[in-house]
This record gives sequence, C-alpha cells and structure tokens, in this order.
Amino acid sequence: MITKTFSIDKEDIDDKILKKASEIINDGELVAFPTETVYGLGADGLNSNACQKIFKAKGRPSDNPLILHISNKTMLYNLVDDINEDAKKLMESCWPGPLTLILKKSNKIPDIVTAGLDTVAIRMPSDKIASRFIEISNTPIAAPSANTSGKPSPTRAKDVFQDLNGKISMILDGGSCKIGIESTVVDCSEDNPVILRPGFYTFEDLQKIIPTITLDDSLISDEKTPRSPGQKYRHYSPNAKMKVYIGSNAANKMLEEANKFKNQGLKVGVLTFNDSISLFDDFKSMSFGDRDNLSYMSHVLFTALREMDNNGVDIILAEGVNENNLGKSIMNRMKKSASNNIFYI
Ligand code: TXA
Ligand code: MG
Repeated sequence: MITKTFSIDKEDIDDKILKKASEIINDGELVAFPTETVYGLGADGLNSNACQKIFKAKGRPSDNPLILHISNKTMLYNLVDDINEDAKKLMESCWPGPLTLILKKSNKIPDIVTAGLDTVAIRMPSDKIASRFIEISNTPIAAPSANTSGKPSPTRAKDVFQDLNGKISMILDGGSCKIGIESTVVDCSEDNPVILRPGFYTFEDLQKIIPTITLDDSLISDEKTPRSPGQKYRHYSPNAKMKVYIGSNAANKMLEEANKFKNQGLKVGVLTFNDSISLFDDFKSMSFGDRDNLSYMSHVLFTALREMDNNGVDIILAEGVNENNLGKSIMNRMKKSASNNIFYI
C-alpha cells in the first residue's frame, strides 16, 4: 500500500483534501490525522473490519479498546446509553478538548472498538482539522495514537510516516501537535468519576469541576494494576535504553553518568532544561525548555524521544519533574518510557 501525505493549513482548511480523506474512511480504510494532543490513526468507528485494520497496522493487542472521536454532541447520543451529571459537567467544561470520557456503551458500537467491555471511550477534539475531518466523514472516528504499539506517540506527520508507511492509505499533515501528550481519560461509567490516564487536564484542574473525582489506584501506587487496559502495556518506549533523574542535583548526576557511558563507548543522548543544557555540549542533547514551563515540556517530550532514536543514541539520560499538576501527566509517560528506571537525586 502507498501512504500519501497531504499538508493542510489549519487557518485555511482545504475541504477537498478532507473530502478525499473521508471517502477513504467511508470505504473502510485508515487515515492518520492531527489532533491537539497527538496524531490519531483513524477508521470508521462503526465498521468492525475497518477498526480491525487499526490493530493490525499498529501491532496493537486486541484487548486494548479504542477511543471514538466525535465532532458534536448529537453524535454522542447514538453511542452511549447513559450520561450522568458528572459526565455532563466535564463535557461542558472541557469539550471540545483533550478529555476522553468512558461511558456505558450503546449496542451500536462494534465489540472490537471496546475490546468487549460494556463501556466506550469518547472524545471531542478541539483541533480544527480533526473536527472538520470527523464532520465530513459523518461517522465517529475510532483512533488510537498513530504510532507502532509501544513506541512514543507521534506529534508530527513524519513520526506517523516513520511508523506506518506502507500500512495506511493517507496521512493528513497539520503540523506539530499543540499539546504533545495524550488526552486525560476519565471513567464516568460508574457513580464517582475516576482519572485513568492523566493528560493535559490535570487532577487539580478536574477537581475544580468535580471535587470528588479520584485518581485510579495505579496512578498513586506503581504496584497497582491499571483499570485502563492500555495503561498496563509497555509504552512510549524509545529504542534506546532510558534513565530518568529528578531533584536539585539531577543535572550534575546526569553529567557524571553521561561521561561514564561515553567512556564505555556508548552514544549518549541527554534531555534536560535550558539552565543545564550547556553542561552537555559533548553529547547529543535537547532541551525541555524552561524548568517552570511544563506545557512546553509536554509539547516536546515525545518529539525529543523520537529525535534521540533518529540520532541513533544507545542511552537517553533525561531529567524528570515533580509529580504536581502537569508534572504528573509528564511523569506518567516518562516512567513508562524508562521502564521505571527513575532516580531521585
Ligand atoms: O489524545 C488522545 O487520547 C489520542 C488522540 C489520537 O485522540 N488517542 C489516544 O488513544 O491516546 P490510545 O488508544 O493511544 O489511548 C487510549 C487509552 C488506552 O489506554 C485505552 O486502554 C483507554 O484509553 N481506553 C479506551 N477505551 C476504554 C474503556 N472502555 N475503558 C477503559 N479505558 C479505555
Ligand atoms: Mg497510544
């Protein structure tokens, strides 16, 4: 299969290209598209055969359910049986945007989408290209992140191409994703909402909307099994081995380690903040920006991991952050990328 990439200008969206993309969707094939979080790998969410192709292209385990993306609330009412008051409040405050809600599913949804669960994940993206693409396709678009299963999520069209060239029909290139990490997933299928995956919307943000909201046990203790199937897999992993350092002396420790690995003949990559980057001129280094700008850090995190692999480093030494606010979402990804090789210095 030949994978074609088409550029789209967010400020002047060319409907002709999106019409072509929607025809591919309506024919049961796959199209990767930008969202405000990461790129998604889309299929017609009501077509089992089409959704099956997503699992094949990504090498995704079949027990990991997909998110259905919608462009307006009318679409939602066909897909779910019950929407409680808390879910309504979250939609009011956060949609369109980087929030995914888990709700009781209706019988219109193919089993493959929900991996046999009686709940379904739904998200209304705010990205203009994503929204218009769903609208023109006129069906909910099932879409996981558009990476090979286990790899860092793609934040640029070229990342998608790298993983899925030859496996999908089309990539819509809308530039680099604004947020850079995936949506916050909240389970609203039972009485009290639970955050299953932290994202751009943090625990602190959502507590302001639902004071009783809680974090899934697995986000509090690393020993607990996550309730969200996808959270239990190896994830966000660069090809290189990765170690993460946190604390006021982290950069110095990283320098010591970087020199040690270099002396062993390894190619070392370093990810740290602007104030420490100059320590690492002898290594392949990239900055997470200013230490107090966590939105920028989330924006560049996955791009940086992919660039390290593109540069063929053997080991990545990365500086982590405290788990407050967006720091919790960032560390949720970094811990998985580093297979829990986290050092508090
Ligand atoms: O920002 C995002 O959410 C991106 C963009 C493309 O929208 N999508 C994304 O999809 O990250 P994916 O498949 O990579 O992650 C979806 C997560 C997985 O951890 C999955 O297990 C969980 O949502 N999930 C989906 N349906 C679920 C359900 N019914 N119950 C619990 N967790 C569910
Ligand atoms: Mg994913």
